[in-house]
Amino acid sequence: MPDGDSAAPVRTGPAPTPTFMDTSELDLTGRLAVVTGAGRGIGRAVAVELARAGARLALVARSADQLAEVRDELAAAGAVAEAYSADLADIATVAELGARIERDLGPAGVLINNAGVVGPIGPTDRLSVADVEQSFRVNAIAPMLLTAAFLESMRKAGWGRIVNVSTGVVAHPTALARGNTYVAAKSALEAHSLNLAAELAGTGVTVSVYRPGRVDTAMQGWIRDQDPDTVGGGLVERFAEWHRSGELITPAHSARALVSRLGDTETGRILDVADAA
Ligand SMILES: NC(=O)c1ccc[n+]([C@@H]2O[C@H](COP(=O)([O-])OP(=O)(O)OC[C@H]3O[C@@H](n4cnc5c(N)ncnc54)[C@H](OP(=O)(O)O)[C@@H]3O)[C@@H](O)[C@H]2O)c1
Repeated sequence: MPDGDSAAPVRTGPAPTPTFMDTSELDLTGRLAVVTGAGRGIGRAVAVELARAGARLALVARSADQLAEVRDELAAAGAVAEAYSADLADIATVAELGARIERDLGPAGVLINNAGVVGPIGPTDRLSVADVEQSFRVNAIAPMLLTAAFLESMRKAGWGRIVNVSTGVVAHPTALARGNTYVAAKSALEAHSLNLAAELAGTGVTVSVYRPGRVDTAMQGWIRDQDPDTVGGGLVERFAEWHRSGELITPAHSARALVSRLGDTETGRILDVADAA
């Protein structure tokens, strides 16, 4: 992080050894947690961890069948969860969604903006405008708008936790050549997060970025399924090799590292699953 960044936590001396709380110690009883992309992958695992910590859940994604499965799983375990099937690429929907959730379930205390798309991938001069726009809507604009919808009630409560799920490639943009749109959109998301953290300093509402690591999800599978010749640059082959060599971590592993940080009061942080190792 550059010097003079007011959103950066003030530290003196060497960086502390990260200590990760067991999520079983985190008490979110009575809090409403909104998780986007909660139908599968990392978002689903995050919802499970939040429910374990006592939170009530609002689960958001497009696939109603996947959301229903997660809602039923959580309900069977004794948690309260509601499913909201919504397309986050649709700005009008997102603008209304926050108010709808709060009307139904009351004020939100936790917002995990996890939904994301990695496509389009491939040579930048062959990308369609529609695909580039879709990526920015889902990866950057929707989290900004959904966050805005919950800010008033979080500020009023003097407590809130907003986590925006990003990617480690923002720190190493050259590592994902042929993924230009994704890197650009997630970089925008991170800049938004740190800027908002500074704006909300002292309110009790924290804003963090979370980089989840290489996780074995449908998103990784989608990349492996692309045509290596069309994408080019050895990108598809590299993802296939990570899968073959067993390098990917589970969604539950990554989710636990995210949820374990929600007790922290520090804001404007970029959290990485690697810090939890
Ligand atoms: N897996 C990794 O290795 C990895 C690495 C770095 C960062 N990440 C980030 O982690 C987050 C979760 O990824 P994942 O790997 O768990 O992916 P995933 O399994 O593909 O899940 C993505 C979730 O986002 C939802 N989503 C996508 N487009 C949406 C839209 N237009 N409206 C509403 N919901 C939408 C999907 O549901 P529907 O399709 O049903 O809408 C799904 O629930 C993403 O932000 C991703 O960029 C993942």
